[in-house]
Amino acid sequence: MSDIIDPDIAKKVENLKSELQKHNYHYYVMDDPQISDTQYDKMMQELIELEAKYPMLSTPDSPSMKVGAEPVKKFEQIRHSVKMLSLDNAFSDSDILNFDRRVKEGLMADEQILYTAEPKMDGVAVELVYKDGRLVSASTRGDGETGEDITSNVKTIRSVPLLLQQNKKEHIIPARLEARGEVIISKEGFKRLNEDMLSQGLALFANPRNAAAGSLRQLDSKVTAKRPLEIYFYGVGEVEGISCKSHWDWLYALKELGLRINPYIKPKININAVCKYYKELEQMRSGLPYDIDGMVVKVDSVQYQEQLGTKARSPRWAVAYKFKAIQETTKVLDILVQVGRTGAVTPVACLETVNIGGVNVSRATLHNEDEIRNKDIRIGDTVLVQRAGDVIPEIVKVIDSARNGSEIIFCMPQNCPSCNSQLIRDEKESLIRCVNNSCPAKTKAQIEHFVSKRAFDIDGLGEKLINQLFDKKYLSSYADIFYLDKIKMEGLERMGLKSAGNLFEAIEKSKNINFARFIYALGIRHVGEHIAEILASKYEKYEKFCSATYDDLKNIKGVGPIVAQSIIDFLGREDNLNNIERMLNSGVIIRYGENRKSTTLDGKIFVLTGTLESMTRNEAIIKIKSFGGKISESVSKKTDYLVAGKSPGSKIEKAKAAGVEIIDENKLKIMFES
Ligand code: IVH
Repeated sequence: MSDIIDPDIAKKVENLKSELQKHNYHYYVMDDPQISDTQYDKMMQELIELEAKYPMLSTPDSPSMKVGAEPVKKFEQIRHSVKMLSLDNAFSDSDILNFDRRVKEGLMADEQILYTAEPKMDGVAVELVYKDGRLVSASTRGDGETGEDITSNVKTIRSVPLLLQQNKKEHIIPARLEARGEVIISKEGFKRLNEDMLSQGLALFANPRNAAAGSLRQLDSKVTAKRPLEIYFYGVGEVEGISCKSHWDWLYALKELGLRINPYIKPKININAVCKYYKELEQMRSGLPYDIDGMVVKVDSVQYQEQLGTKARSPRWAVAYKFKAIQETTKVLDILVQVGRTGAVTPVACLETVNIGGVNVSRATLHNEDEIRNKDIRIGDTVLVQRAGDVIPEIVKVIDSARNGSEIIFCMPQNCPSCNSQLIRDEKESLIRCVNNSCPAKTKAQIEHFVSKRAFDIDGLGEKLINQLFDKKYLSSYADIFYLDKIKMEGLERMGLKSAGNLFEAIEKSKNINFARFIYALGIRHVGEHIAEILASKYEKYEKFCSATYDDLKNIKGVGPIVAQSIIDFLGREDNLNNIERMLNSGVIIRYGENRKSTTLDGKIFVLTGTLESMTRNEAIIKIKSFGGKISESVSKKTDYLVAGKSPGSKIEKAKAAGVEIIDENKLKIMFES
């Protein structure tokens, strides 16, 4: 540590701080990174080291300050200067048209009203206060008037700038800015967080919203710092120093100041376009990287907003157009038990088929026996069922008033319904397990996992065919897939020459697989895709992975003792090692040194032009992003690919001049597939 600071070092630290702040802005707000993650990490590391060596240079607003502060005993209260309101709901186009009518009546206007339509993010509402450009406090919504002081926690969120950005000289940093937004955890972040929680033996979060709320309410902000929280801003409270005439102008101003706004906001559209965009957003919903539960429609003109005013809890100028009910009531016809690939025996409710949000639902998971007891679910009960995104439908609660006394209490079996061996209670995970390694139900479920999209991706080998092959004794482990006899297969019921040919082609194609997928496919308990990726990058070859010790594994970041033990148990079994050996002998080739995520699209910048035919522009954007690609509006030297659809614009010429590769829709699809 040194007291005298070389001015060159002070200058270096200042430079690093402003460069990192600038790159945060490009990364989070503009979604257009200017440097690689490695370069960013290197700069951040350099700053952290200099600040540790010269603590006098370390300031509370440094971009390095994302690690959390000292724990607090309880949260203090913060009063919002302007009440944080909630929103009335609309459920149909006619509700929205009524809203538009009420707005017009309230304004005594005949003309068309312009609205801004935004995705309704499913997270936690927060208010951040910036004084002279510096983040001074952050609070939850609370009861709308007073919330909890979660400043230290919010400061750890990477997409929250500690200092506002002054992009252009003429842009003013407001003396006071109360910025409001939603703190969320992405679907991917949620999956990884739960995998981490599991590896540490901690309770899992039920959904991304709960995970975000739980992470924000940590008394120790160092815990929050480790959670994958993100923020999107959608409005303002009290502001001094700048003013805007429309809601969209406010959002744009927030963006210019370095506060991230949602990229799918549609500014200044009429009510018919609002209804149209709702349908588009509903289509896009499952492809978005985070949960949304509807669309928020806001009168765009601030003057009109003021004229319309607010009711006690909600404004008259905005409404939440919620997506279709993902909850419906139906009847429990029966309760069955299923044996999963890890032997976990889960009860499943067979339901009277009900349409929930456009999908027919006839089964719901009951998780475990405790869940049935806690919710007191009986055969014959009328229940409220929920379907959320890709999650398996589940029973929310029993409608007690619908009971007539004929309902039957369900008891978990003592023996495995498939192999009849005695079931063992796993107290830690509050579930019952079949521990027989040759249980047919377990093996079939393992094979289903092995061939699934994210594992070996063998198309055409579905549940029914697996059952058939199992019964015929053609398959008794996943390794047998690579030894199937084509002639015998062609003779199977409902399997013609063509389908057999396709299946064998898919099997051959699957034989070339990257290491992370390979590990994931093995179906080791607690080893999801994320942990498989960690293991694949840690161990260079499968032989090294197979000879890993418990201590090696336990010490890998993100693995932990429970996962380590599970891997050791798996590798300790001769049948597993035999299966791996047989697969490799059949010609399965593992590709090493390739991160599962690093596809040809990873980090590449795409520009789209013209009309695409087999997908909409939004679908293409979502897909490119989901493969790690970036979207840019204009062609520059940094652009990697220009995707040219029908009737492309002038971007083609620009791309040619800049030496950018021009690809068509088909090439893009091939890139997705590869
Ligand atoms: S505007 C007066 N915009 O939805 C306007 N809210 O019940 C108040 N939310 O608690 C909110 N996305 O947390 C607004 N784009 C968005 C939003 C949004 C999510 C949440 C917000 C609020 C709740 C409204």
